[in-house]
Amino acid sequence: MMLNVAVMFGGRSVEHEVSVITGLQIIENIDKSKYRAIPVYISKEGRWYTGEALFDIRNYQDVSCLLKKCREAVLFPSYNLKTLCFYPFKTGLFKKEPDGIRVDVAFLAFHGAFGEDGCIQGLLELAGIPYTGPGVVGSGVGMDKIIMKDIFRSNDLPIVNYTWFFRKNYEKDPEAAIKNVESKLNYPVFVKPANLGSSIGITKAKTREELIDAVEIAIRYDRKVIIEEAVQDPLEINCSVMGMDDELSASLCEMPVSWQEFLSYEDKYLHNDGAKTGMKGASRKIPAPIPEDKTEEIKQLAKQAFKALDCAGVARIDFLVERESMKVYINEINTIPGSMAFYLWEPGGVKFQKLIDNLIEIALERRREQENNIYSFDTNLLKKASSGIKGAKARN
Ligand SMILES: Nc1ncnc2c1ncn2[C@@H]1O[C@H](COP(=O)(O)OP(=O)(O)O)[C@@H](O)[C@H]1O
Ligand SMILES: [Mg+2]
Repeated sequence: MMLNVAVMFGGRSVEHEVSVITGLQIIENIDKSKYRAIPVYISKEGRWYTGEALFDIRNYQDVSCLLKKCREAVLFPSYNLKTLCFYPFKTGLFKKEPDGIRVDVAFLAFHGAFGEDGCIQGLLELAGIPYTGPGVVGSGVGMDKIIMKDIFRSNDLPIVNYTWFFRKNYEKDPEAAIKNVESKLNYPVFVKPANLGSSIGITKAKTREELIDAVEIAIRYDRKVIIEEAVQDPLEINCSVMGMDDELSASLCEMPVSWQEFLSYEDKYLHNDGAKTGMKGASRKIPAPIPEDKTEEIKQLAKQAFKALDCAGVARIDFLVERESMKVYINEINTIPGSMAFYLWEPGGVKFQKLIDNLIEIALERRREQENNIYSFDTNLLKKASSGIKGAKARN
């Protein structure tokens, strides 16, 4: 049976444009003999749209004109309705369900806030719709660089020294916050908004003055800021992991090429023809020119990191390797990587179309696994409370 796959992209995120490219790459490469791709575009204002006009990347030059050619439609959170409902909803005397399109699987191509952080995953859980990538927890912790590092540390995975603070505490007493950082870390440091991506809001600081400037930038993007020691003259090595639970495989490793102090938004998307191909367009060496034992070490660590955050689908784990000592540190995980990291799997023989197939299979498998759980408990609690809830104590 042909499956209806809602390919979802865009969103209220600073990585909105990167997500549009990833989404359209999925639609272009999905196996059209097995799946019907339904584009679901979430605008920067957070409104949902579907329609043929969304298939053509040229139409995104003028989004307001594009949206006039589309219909608003939303996924209902009601369990098992599994319908992308056209908005405003039209029901009839004899027709209770609103007009819409059946959705068998949601293919998530979001990057950043409200799409890669567990929000949309929560809605799809309520709706009972299988979806690609990790669940609510894996998405949430994968997005928050502080909690991600806390979990890596508690799993004895190699990470750099770091500390963090709330924006409001910094604003209350910047001097104290800066002193606290200097008491724990050595310069140079990297300052990052806790929940962001694509190198936006990130700055390297070598002095107290630069640190203060860097914090002033980062606090504009998030209520929490992480500060971490810089790996000296690092090699950047990325590795992708695919699977679920502990059935995991690792891709070849890549070494992205940076033209600046560190891998910036420009490096990632605006060199070569990155504007057309997203992460695929960035300059990189595959396989990464590092010793075999280091490649193996990184692949193992990538799988451990994936498992520690209860991820599923495909993720890209980014490493920093100290050039002199070749000491390996996990920098971060991208639970919905740019272009689904297909360029890391193709050289190993997994074509983009096959990768998409695998991710949909994993999504269906995760849903089946969840259906094995029971979600109700026989109790006469409410019968007992039928004489009124005064004095009842709900202790969960
Ligand atoms: N601790 C660090 N030491 C050295 N370079 C770093 C460090 N943290 C980040 N960088 C550089 O900054 C880039 C962006 O940081 P990253 O944590 O990956 O943020 P994002 O989620 O925005 O990609 C990295 O690709 C790397 O070039
Ligand atoms: Mg990164």
